[in-house]
Amino acid sequence: MDGGAEAKLIDAGQRGEAPGDLPDYLVKTYSWAYLRPASLLIFDNTVAVGAILWGNIWRLMRAACEEFSTGQRILQAASVYGSLSAELADTVGPEGHLEVIDIAPLQVDHTRRKLAAYPQASVRVADAARPGGGLYDGVCCFFLLHEVPDAYKHAVVDGLLASVAPGSKVVFVDYHRPLPLHPLRFVMQGVFRLLEPFAEGLLRREIRDFAAERDSFAWRKETFFGGLYQKVVAERQS
Ligand SMILES: C[S@@+](CC[C@H](N)C(=O)[O-])C[C@H]1O[C@@H](n2cnc3c(N)ncnc32)[C@H](O)[C@@H]1O
Repeated sequence: MDGGAEAKLIDAGQRGEAPGDLPDYLVKTYSWAYLRPASLLIFDNTVAVGAILWGNIWRLMRAACEEFSTGQRILQAASVYGSLSAELADTVGPEGHLEVIDIAPLQVDHTRRKLAAYPQASVRVADAARPGGGLYDGVCCFFLLHEVPDAYKHAVVDGLLASVAPGSKVVFVDYHRPLPLHPLRFVMQGVFRLLEPFAEGLLRREIRDFAAERDSFAWRKETFFGGLYQKVVAERQS
């Protein structure tokens, strides 16, 4: 996205509008969560984020951060409420660089403010399906895939996998199909049906199945909290 287009989107975001060039799925399904200034006040705090993830936020953030190291240039594929970006910025340290992208200007602006104390971090408007920015040492995609339609899941997975060179990895942390007797299985089914209509598509398939270039990567998966969450790491082999 060029500077003029980004400035136009940021202006609209600052006025609290959902700019016209945002994808339909975001405007129609998630305006309440990401595109209104009030959303930031309601959701961007430890209590809300902790509750949404049933108390697993720290464990999941740790699982993501432990895949990266000091001095690396890392891409975070979308803003996240809470302190993940700060944790990633701490992980790469002053010698590294964290680049956060988000498709919503309001979120970009907000994340820039949150990261003001980290000179090693920058934030820009971009679509995770076309991140730009060249090749990174690592990419972190935290709870984005379940919020995009299946066709977009393919585009985002491919866009992020294309952003790493051999030896580098893309780390996905997201929802997963829970064990059959999971006590929260039906609660989460209700939540997904009511609020997160694209999540089911992620529970039905492995993340690697969304990748066109899946054979160029070594894949590993770990699940958490009775299978409700997953970390999938794709390391480029060739
Ligand atoms: C990472 S996801 C959900 C994270 C989690 N629910 C949380 O606590 O914030 C939320 C962000 O993804 C952004 N987003 C949605 N589609 C995107 C895309 N195609 N590219 C980049 N960012 C996107 C939204 O604007 C929103 O800020």
